[in-house]
Amino acid sequence: MSDNKPSRRHFTAALLSAPAALSAQQSPLKARVKIDTERVIGEIDPNLYGNFIEHLGRCIEGGIFEEKSPLSDSNGFRRDVLTAVKDLKVPQLRWPGGNFASNYHWRDGIGPRDSRPARLEMAWGTVESNRFGTHEFLDYAAKAGTEPYLCVNLGTGTWEEAQQWVEYTNSSEDTALTRLRKQNGRTEPWKVKYWGLGNEVDGPWQMGHRSAEDYGKFALEAAKLMKWTDPTIKLVAAGSSHYAPGIDWVGWNRTVLDYLKTHVDYLSLHMYVGNRDNNYYEFLANSVDLDNRTKTAEGTINAALTTMPRDKRIYIAWDEWNVWYRARGNKERGRRILEERYNLEDALVIATMLNSFVNHAHIVKMANMAQLVNVIAPIFTNETGLFLQTIYYPLQLFATHAKGKALDLFVDSPKYDSTKFGPVKYLDVSSALDSQTLTVNVVNRHKDQPMDVDITLTDREFTGAIEVHEVNGPDIKAENDFGKTTVKTVTRSATGSGKTFRYQAAPHSFTLLKTRLT
Ligand code: AHR
Repeated sequence: MSDNKPSRRHFTAALLSAPAALSAQQSPLKARVKIDTERVIGEIDPNLYGNFIEHLGRCIEGGIFEEKSPLSDSNGFRRDVLTAVKDLKVPQLRWPGGNFASNYHWRDGIGPRDSRPARLEMAWGTVESNRFGTHEFLDYAAKAGTEPYLCVNLGTGTWEEAQQWVEYTNSSEDTALTRLRKQNGRTEPWKVKYWGLGNEVDGPWQMGHRSAEDYGKFALEAAKLMKWTDPTIKLVAAGSSHYAPGIDWVGWNRTVLDYLKTHVDYLSLHMYVGNRDNNYYEFLANSVDLDNRTKTAEGTINAALTTMPRDKRIYIAWDEWNVWYRARGNKERGRRILEERYNLEDALVIATMLNSFVNHAHIVKMANMAQLVNVIAPIFTNETGLFLQTIYYPLQLFATHAKGKALDLFVDSPKYDSTKFGPVKYLDVSSALDSQTLTVNVVNRHKDQPMDVDITLTDREFTGAIEVHEVNGPDIKAENDFGKTTVKTVTRSATGSGKTFRYQAAPHSFTLLKTRLT
């Protein structure tokens, strides 16, 4: 939850950096990217481009699920939203929270909808109807073609409740719970693979907040029972969500891993960034911080694994991440609805964060943008339709094209000095090789100047058509709205031959270049 408190120091990049001081009329900045297709970081897990829905504001009710709407199907799923979700190519979807998960009792959300209990919802201060529950979520995930990821209640919930949820969804045995599932209309188990052991338990804002030791012990018993119910499931430990001065982020993660390392497959981390002081360059530097956090967490995981068999792996799941600072604590329409409106600079930050995930593809194997619809989300609805926010486009491009192996790049770019994060390259890049298809994902952070980027293949050649997918807009504050798509992907083609392709990256742009290599 907590992150990125506004810097009190003044940002000085434009003054410190000579290239930044050049005017737009002068020649473009220059950068070089060298790609050796044999230098592989790791396999890009498709779950890097996942998403998240929570019972919060209009994410589920009024977002993906609106029973009385003429736009909805017979299940209550908004058809237009489902199409936008499918187009986003969401590989994995986390549910039911978030903070909401810490007091969610899954049995409230099964059986005939009209008989389900309405409950006071304390995470976000509302009433939960429970009309969207386990069956609705898992049916939705199947319709959207996405892998479900359930987060169990380790706040006010029990080990037994967590175990029984796995039994209800995954067991093929003939038990009282599987009979109940069948009675509720589902014969075959869903075989849900991904399970989160609670949410942000380190945060005092969490229902059932615990110390690392208390969480570690408690989650271990839940993990044992859940894996004994279905040994094929993958478990995600709640790492620290609280990265701030004075908070022992590393200590929490290490303690939790020491308790759970035998049983878990992922460590969950969260990161939200913002631009409260309206400092573009400092805001755009946040992916450097993400890189650092990933490296630190990787070191902590490695340290915890030293006593484990050598083939034991624990990966990082950035299972909540996004830009989020405008619609934070305030109540809107009497509730906390977190309806953030995004602009171009937010979309660029999203692209740099995706680059960071790809550039650490060996250890980051899951990432879930928070959230999918209306609540800090790429898809925004009203009663009559929807529009796609700026942040939809980079995520869609990565999910559609940046697959296969992440490549280790040499990047030579002019830099600026960020107050918080030190030197930052104006050019931010990642690259993926999927069989013979190469993508190069380029953010030009410079606000005013284009950048000539020489992309050199050291061991291969460009041999023809290059798809150029660019996300840009008239200025960094440009937003989309109902009936107005100012920021979007524009696709054109280019050709390249030989070892080097020069691409001129426009100011404040993200481009995904895609080509086939011979
Ligand atoms: O995504 C919004 C909230 O942010 C989630 O409920 C919580 O896990 C985090 O603090």
